[in-house]
Amino acid sequence: MEILVIGGTGTVGTHAVRGLVERGESPKVMTREPGKAGVDGAEYVEGGLGDGDAIRAALEGVEAVLLITPLHPQEGDLGVAAVKAMDDAGIERLVFQSIHRVQEIPDPPHFASKIRIEEEIVSTGIPHTVIAPNNFFQNDLWLREPIVEHGVYSQPFGNTGLSRVDARDVADAHVRALLDLPAEGLAYPIVGPDVWTAEETAEAWGRHLDREVIYGGDDLDAYAEQAGRMMPGWLVEDLVEMYAAFQERGLVASEEELSLSRAVVDHAPRTFDDFAAETAARWSS
Ligand SMILES: NC(=O)c1ccc[n+]([C@@H]2O[C@H](COP(=O)([O-])OP(=O)(O)OC[C@H]3O[C@@H](n4cnc5c(N)ncnc54)[C@H](OP(=O)(O)O)[C@@H]3O)[C@@H](O)[C@H]2O)c1
Repeated sequence: MEILVIGGTGTVGTHAVRGLVERGESPKVMTREPGKAGVDGAEYVEGGLGDGDAIRAALEGVEAVLLITPLHPQEGDLGVAAVKAMDDAGIERLVFQSIHRVQEIPDPPHFASKIRIEEEIVSTGIPHTVIAPNNFFQNDLWLREPIVEHGVYSQPFGNTGLSRVDARDVADAHVRALLDLPAEGLAYPIVGPDVWTAEETAEAWGRHLDREVIYGGDDLDAYAEQAGRMMPGWLVEDLVEMYAAFQERGLVASEEELSLSRAVVDHAPRTFDDFAAETAARWSS
């Protein structure tokens, strides 16, 4: 099958492209930097989501698309425009990466964008599947310095709990949705096997790194001040809104969602403890 991956050089997309190649596919990957190292067996073509001509060119001869939209102030507009181009190109199957239970947390802008893009997909009638992951374990890779150097876990998602998931399981779900599952317009939650609070997460990092790691706390003003040194203001505001919702209501999968996720991924879910152990070993070496 001729497959185009948009967002195929990122955290999830890289694994999805590798998974497709391992299944014998030769996916096309649209990237703004085609020269950067990629997965052998994939074809990298130049283009960004804001470039309609590049998207139309990339869609030529393509039957199925995996769409992973970036965190971007115009994410909704970019995603909607890409979906319209897919509709014009007669795409037969679309897999879109959304967010677990996004309808229940509609306000953070990158959540609202997912809802808009999903609505656009439905309105086109393109046969599709929505893959809706919980918070990625791999977000913690950005926190190496505060964790390792300062013993502080600084993702302020609170202590209600999240069914955090390994991005590699999300990628496995994308491959299954592209190659194995019927595109019936369903949304599949992709979730981890355990519920993690931020305090438990800090404790797990401490255990695997053999040092004390404490949770930095729920103060979102302090988080915004720190994060604002590294991220643009629009992204800080978006993430503060998301973390406020996580602190208040959590994002915990039901037993039914967990078994559905497991069926889609088609193997036992990877655990945070294993992820933290392998990451801590790498950070310590
Ligand atoms: N992090 C989480 O816990 C989590 C959980 C659920 C859902 N999500 C959603 O997952 C998505 C991000 O996935 P990810 O973390 O795998 O991606 P990522 O690592 O942030 O990578 C972003 C990808 O988007 C591409 N990209 C960035 N800016 C672009 C632009 N202007 N035009 C076109 N492409 C652009 C990049 O390609 P090039 O740079 O090569 O062009 C790259 O492939 C977001 O929509 C996020 O809301 C995240």
